[in-house]
Amino acid sequence: MTKKKQIHLNGFVQNSPSPHSTGLWKHAKDKGIHHNRLQYWTETAKVLERGKFDAVFIADVLGTYSKYGNSHDAAVRNAVQLPAHDPLMPITAMAAATEHIGFAPTISATYAQPYSLARQLSTLDHLTEGRVAWNVVTSYLDSEAINLGLSGRMPKELRYDRADEFLEVVYKLWEHSWEEDAVVYDRDRDVFADPEKVHGINHEGEFFQVPGIHLTEPSPQRTPVLFQAGASPRGRDFAAKHAEAVFTKGHSLEALRNYSQDLRRRTVRQGRNADDIAIFPMVLPIVGSTEEEAISKYEDLQSHVSYEGTAAMLSGHTGIDFSQYDPDQYIEDMETDAVQGNLDMYTKDPNKKWTLREAIKNHGLGNGTARFIGTPEQIADQIEEWVTVGDADGFNIAQGYSLETFREFVDHVVPELQKRGIYRTEYEGKTLRENLFGRGSHLPDNHPARKLGVRVES
Ligand SMILES: Cc1cc2nc3c(=O)[nH]c(=O)nc-3n(C[C@H](O)[C@H](O)[C@H](O)COP(=O)(O)O)c2cc1C
Repeated sequence: MTKKKQIHLNGFVQNSPSPHSTGLWKHAKDKGIHHNRLQYWTETAKVLERGKFDAVFIADVLGTYSKYGNSHDAAVRNAVQLPAHDPLMPITAMAAATEHIGFAPTISATYAQPYSLARQLSTLDHLTEGRVAWNVVTSYLDSEAINLGLSGRMPKELRYDRADEFLEVVYKLWEHSWEEDAVVYDRDRDVFADPEKVHGINHEGEFFQVPGIHLTEPSPQRTPVLFQAGASPRGRDFAAKHAEAVFTKGHSLEALRNYSQDLRRRTVRQGRNADDIAIFPMVLPIVGSTEEEAISKYEDLQSHVSYEGTAAMLSGHTGIDFSQYDPDQYIEDMETDAVQGNLDMYTKDPNKKWTLREAIKNHGLGNGTARFIGTPEQIADQIEEWVTVGDADGFNIAQGYSLETFREFVDHVVPELQKRGIYRTEYEGKTLRENLFGRGSHLPDNHPARKLGVRVES
């Protein structure tokens, strides 16, 4: 019998209280206010590893949601992805408490420097023994740009141009600076590493000049697994060129199917195979022992959502100040320099025109993403449908209340997926790349990173 397509799961988090379900920090079962403690993170990683998840996927922003009414007050009052603590710091503690699960922090290619970011991620890849990914984003909040020394958010095209070159630089550092056998630890000859085999990358580009060698020796995966989140046409081309996996968000199966077809076509156009890119839609599961119980849990979660906080979040996501809008006004279709996908969810829905009030209500729980509500069997049915019809390869599982949503999913839905033969019962490999793609720990040969400069052996 042929093996059914195996799905992959990431737990979607952020170093902030209830980051993706605005206002849920106040729910009696929510533990998000403890995000500032190591134990919160080690517990998160252990729960997800018990459920054989591929990775803890960590979103991040470097600014406040202050588009709404041109003020950060609503974001402060309602903890709208605020406090926004650093996404990298909890990773080594989580790695020490687990053995297999990976870690996929989000870092903006718009504000980081490739030379130092390459070192940070290589260090983490060493310390986790090859369990690190990078979710490459180009950011959307004006407040980030302003606090990082710019006059405002750079135009999207420019952000993606910079990100393209950013990746070229880190590829050179990760893949080509140190040859595989450069480190010799030769006590007799008194040589730690052979300078003939460690190369300066001599990068000279439009945005970056980096002559140097990479500061770390090759890590188990060299280049961390590359995730990307960005949904505009330019964002999709960027993903098609670079990403091994993408994170996407939407509320309908039809939208996912269209997205998957489009992204795979673009990936082939970049000289890669259609299935060289894995698609991870975001989903909020709400599980009950009966359908009625699941619906009543949904209603309870929804009653904790903050209207003002979600309005501030939606303004930040879309770059539109909704404090100026009548709540019963329809949201208009337009191009945005913020997150196109978040606006499209409410303007390009073939089934419905969304008023602001409806969009806010939807956006508050799991950032407006699809919800799978029902018994473990019903949720597993939906997962299967999104895989077979929507062409998903995995899911980023969001939370209503943290960590309870993860616990319920791991205890009740994971066994059902395993029973159906569509989900692992044991981790297959050692590194994250092996677990996700069932091949080696390094990037495949047809990836653009492998085609630049000095070749390294697999
Ligand atoms: C599903 C999804 C998740 C995202 N997560 C983040 C994030 O955590 N941090 C961030 O700065 N940007 C995030 N972004 C936005 C990206 O930074 C992206 O570059 C931005 O939306 C502009 O490009 P786009 O219109 O191509 O999506 C996300 C985008 C999508 C579609």
